[in-house]
Amino acid sequence: MTAGTVTLASIERELEDIERDAVVRAAEAADAAALEAVRVGVLGKKGSLTKVLRGLAGLDGGERPQAGQVANRVKKAVDEALAVRREAIGTARLAARLGGPQVDVTLPASGQPTGHVHPLSVVMDELCGIFLSLGFSIAEGPEVEDDFHNFEALNIPADHPARDMQDTFFIEGGRLLRTHTSPVQVRTMKGTEPPLMIVAPGAVYRHDDDVTHSPMFHQIEGLMVGRGVTFRNLKAVLTEFLARIFGPDLAVKFRPSYFPFTEPSAEVDIGCVMCRGTGSGDAGADAGRCKVCKGTGWLEILGCGMVHPKVFADVGYDPEVYTGFAFGIGVERIAMLKLRIDDIRLFYGHDMRFLAQF
Ligand code: PHE
Repeated sequence: MTAGTVTLASIERELEDIERDAVVRAAEAADAAALEAVRVGVLGKKGSLTKVLRGLAGLDGGERPQAGQVANRVKKAVDEALAVRREAIGTARLAARLGGPQVDVTLPASGQPTGHVHPLSVVMDELCGIFLSLGFSIAEGPEVEDDFHNFEALNIPADHPARDMQDTFFIEGGRLLRTHTSPVQVRTMKGTEPPLMIVAPGAVYRHDDDVTHSPMFHQIEGLMVGRGVTFRNLKAVLTEFLARIFGPDLAVKFRPSYFPFTEPSAEVDIGCVMCRGTGSGDAGADAGRCKVCKGTGWLEILGCGMVHPKVFADVGYDPEVYTGFAFGIGVERIAMLKLRIDDIRLFYGHDMRFLAQF
């Protein structure tokens, strides 16, 4: 349109066209972006209404106010149509969001899995706890030992056949991995005056590997020394200990045995916890014999005895004044019976499905 053809009537018509068109397009805008495009197309710097407003300059002075009024009314109408549609789009968007999948903010978070104590440690802590409650305290010693503490001081001289009882891992420099926790007896007595009551839990090492033996396993050593300590005290402590683990009705048997560092020595058997001492297993399996006790009805659980006078003499205790007892418990053996596990290697694998059960 050129200035020459501009008349009040043509401008009013044009404004009304713009209004009609803008109101329809605003109402049809699908989303906020489409609506904004409508606004820019009409009211923006290069918008259709803006252009007409500029053209008002070409009108007669008398006609201008009237055209201005129409233009203002059109602008207001377009603004209003845009506002109405804007609100409708906002409401629809909110409704869509609320109608979609709901998030229940009150649900607990999924949480991180937490670690837990290894089943062997649980059993070890329980066993030590029983001895602590009986008045024993905890002692410790090194896992890398020397020949003196592991053998010599325990009355096992070089070439003694008892060395064959424990297949040893030797390290250079004449040292070795302790084959039992008994060296802690020697170390404790050397540093302490009697009376004493200690238990020494820890790892020990032997060249051994099958379903019931591992090259590394754990023992709890016990030692009580004083005036007038007797085998009856030994029996009382161990019987009480076993009853607390396996229940008061447990059958317990002290069977004569041999260890170079105790005299007399015994091994303790308990009534098999799997077959309840009957010796019989599932019919068909193992010819109906219990696999755990091999049909004997008994399980060997620990070694013990009265401390040998020679051991006392070596650590500087007077064997005429003091007596004492010692014992060594296989922790894995007890853990397997308590937790009903038939393969010792499960303890040292890292299968979380196994470990997480306890
Ligand atoms: N040290 C022995 C072993 O490992 C067990 C034991 C400890 C025996 C204390 C008697 C006294 O076989």
